[in-house]
Amino acid sequence: MSWKDKAAVYLPEVEKFLQEIVKEGEGELSRHYGMMRYHMGWADENLRPAVASTGKRLRPLLCLLSCEALGGEWREAIPAAAALELVHNFSLVHDDIQDRSPFRRHRPTVWKLWGEALAINVGDALLILACKALGELPLSKFKECCQILNEACLMLTEGQFLDLTFEKREKVSLEEYMEMIKRKTAALMAASAQMGAVIATEERGVIERLRRFGESLGMAFQVQDDILGLWGDEAVTGKPVADDLRQRKKTLPIIYAMEREPFLQSLLAGAEWGEKEVTEALEIINRCGAREFTENQALSFYRKALEELESLGLDSEAVQALKELASFIVGREY
Ligand code: IPE
Ligand code: IPE
Ligand code: MG
Ligand code: MG
Repeated sequence: MSWKDKAAVYLPEVEKFLQEIVKEGEGELSRHYGMMRYHMGWADENLRPAVASTGKRLRPLLCLLSCEALGGEWREAIPAAAALELVHNFSLVHDDIQDRSPFRRHRPTVWKLWGEALAINVGDALLILACKALGELPLSKFKECCQILNEACLMLTEGQFLDLTFEKREKVSLEEYMEMIKRKTAALMAASAQMGAVIATEERGVIERLRRFGESLGMAFQVQDDILGLWGDEAVTGKPVADDLRQRKKTLPIIYAMEREPFLQSLLAGAEWGEKEVTEALEIINRCGAREFTENQALSFYRKALEELESLGLDSEAVQALKELASFIVGREY
């Protein structure tokens, strides 16, 4: 059974739970909830029910597969899976404001359509709804899952802080970059696998291995996101091509190229920054082997993730699906 077959079983249940949490809202408030439902992918720009345009729902999958891989009952972990997806979506609504991103998942972003003030509020609501979702866990698991999710959320804000600060910095080292993505992205993926594990077992060593699996996978995921941020096909990613460069983000291929091509460093730090400079920068990045380096980094995090998983010595449909999910993540085009 592939991860897609598992997703076909799990995700309708997660979606049902999420739809109950992110309710329709009445009267004037139906717009507030409508914007949340737009971002979650269930409503169109007029806030009417739409053909689903959701994200990949990778964090719920990671959580539920980790739970089942350790012999747990995946249905018990649905509130945790939903909470993770809500936190992820809160972070995206705010991230799109922070990054000035006009598009996500092939559609205009919430702040582009309804302004920053309402978008911040929509993000806040999604975060609180995540806490509410977590409250549906069995009491014996609630406290630990709450602690894990809180810690991941805090790390996410630390990562966002570093990411935004690095935009204005002339130089960022590889080590600094790794610390930044560990926080902004890998922390929530680590929490996803860890929460699934906590619901399945009380064996500390096993839970820690799943956490590390999720963390390495999250690192691979973000490195791949950096590849897509420069070379992704807009028609597939749903985001404008070379957007990270336009924003002067210090992503992995850019840092690598800056270390080798001092001119790129001054170009990125210069007062002039328009389409001409973006094209010039991309040419420099392309000729210095940054893509190959970045792809190898993604692969090495992916291998590290697999090692953690294999060290458990388990084999089942869920373990197989986790391995396949990991391989999808590192080769993904969207
Ligand atoms: C995008 O995450 C943001 C990052 C953390 C890099 P996903 O690619 O998982 O987003 P969706 O939910 O599938 O759109
Ligand atoms: C994603 O950051 C991490 C969070 C939202 C916390 P990015 O800014 O790199 O992701 P995309 O490219 O906008 O999805
Ligand atoms: Mg960002
Ligand atoms: Mg962004």
